[in-house]
Amino acid sequence: MHSDCERILFSEEQIRARVAEVASEVDKRYVGKTPLCVGILKGGIIFYSDFIRHLTSPVELDFMAVSSYGGGAVSSGKLKIRKDLDKDVKGRDVIIIEDIIDSGFTLANLKRLLLERGANSVLIVTLLNKKGRRSYDISPDFNCFDIENEFVIGYGLDYNERYRSLPYIGVLKRSVYEK
Ligand code: IMP
Ligand code: MG
Repeated sequence: MHSDCERILFSEEQIRARVAEVASEVDKRYVGKTPLCVGILKGGIIFYSDFIRHLTSPVELDFMAVSSYGGGAVSSGKLKIRKDLDKDVKGRDVIIIEDIIDSGFTLANLKRLLLERGANSVLIVTLLNKKGRRSYDISPDFNCFDIENEFVIGYGLDYNERYRSLPYIGVLKRSVYEK
């Protein structure tokens, strides 16, 4: 375990098994369709690449990068798009694949945006859900793990751009961000 990690929440094996389970549930919804899988850079990327390999329908891949200005209850204004999609979502069945839902600001805004652009449907899939932190009226359609209000790292998730490549999900030591 990394020395900045307080404890491991989900091991590589636990993640692998749960991602496969959730992806096969999602897969059942897209029989005969070609969903557009939208990955949210950068945190969602490891989850995304594992998730899509369990889908049996033909899929198309695209990516967005957004900033959420802190995202808390005080968040105002709009979501800032730092990298937009290459594809037109009009008439498409979109699956948004994201690392974590916290206040819900990011995903509430993204879903609304893609529907405004004419997507036929938008499904939200998250790796982690901090349920107790929600301040926007949105919840994932599918989620792998519920977690408490703790800062987590690994499997794509960062603190100041570090720890994304850890193969497990762990709780970051408070001393790392309180010093
Ligand atoms: P929301 O817009 O408040 O739902 O925030 C979602 C975003 O906050 C995620 O896409 C992450 O980038 C970030 N985030 C929230 N909690 C954590 C965490 O525990 N570790 C790493 N990133 C987090
Ligand atoms: Mg993110």
